[in-house]
Amino acid sequence: MKKTLLTLTALALLAGSAEARTWEAIKQSGTIKIATEGAFPPFNILKGKQLTGFEVELAEALAKGLGLKVQWVTQPFDNLLIGLGQDRYDFVIASHGITPERAKAVDFSNPHYCTGGAIVTRPGGPKTAAALKGKKVAVQVGTTYLENVRKVSGIGDVKTFPKDTDAQAALMAGRVDAWVGDKFTGLDLIKAQKGKVVQGDLLFKERIAMAVKKGNSGLLKELNAALTKAQANGTYAKISGKYFGQDVRCK
Ligand code: ARG
Repeated sequence: MKKTLLTLTALALLAGSAEARTWEAIKQSGTIKIATEGAFPPFNILKGKQLTGFEVELAEALAKGLGLKVQWVTQPFDNLLIGLGQDRYDFVIASHGITPERAKAVDFSNPHYCTGGAIVTRPGGPKTAAALKGKKVAVQVGTTYLENVRKVSGIGDVKTFPKDTDAQAALMAGRVDAWVGDKFTGLDLIKAQKGKVVQGDLLFKERIAMAVKKGNSGLLKELNAALTKAQANGTYAKISGKYFGQDVRCK
């Protein structure tokens, strides 16, 4: 928690410290710089030099709709919003849940999908918030999973990992009793591990959005318009169907 607070204080200080590229400047350059993590399947995954995933394809479709080429930047999850404050890229798409704390540091777009934080455990393990009492849980650092797991009354040890996939591995290796992560990621994990792990309850729900530097309202307006258009013309539904077999937009 201490680390989260410090990071967010740093973010608040950085917000507004330099000029973000305006929509006009981005448009004129013809290329938009987008940052993601690249380690969060099925949303953003870096395989060799190839970035794929729901958010990667969606962002590329939005850029195309805006008449722009894309330059991708990958960063550890915990650095993404800090780099935004330092003008290293124009926006971030990395499954950030909209939280009041983050909204102090960045501006969020309309949500590009809705989801929740789910408990996944081995058969016989804790499946509810109540059952997590005294249990060891693995989560990715800097996430809403960490924030929400810490709120579970009587929670045992909370182990944080730089990458979500490492937190999952800790569950598979039996080093923790449960992993809390995205519900769609959880479904994929359960499928891949065939019976070795099982789905527990949803701990919380969240709306996921893209982030621009605080005050970059011109870019935000264009991103929102591009998202609305993609959701109206079938582009969004097609990409969502490919990764999830369903439409994951917020209803
Ligand atoms: N949805 C969670 C949050 O808002 C996790 C996001 C993790 N994203 C990632 N690219 N690893 O914190």
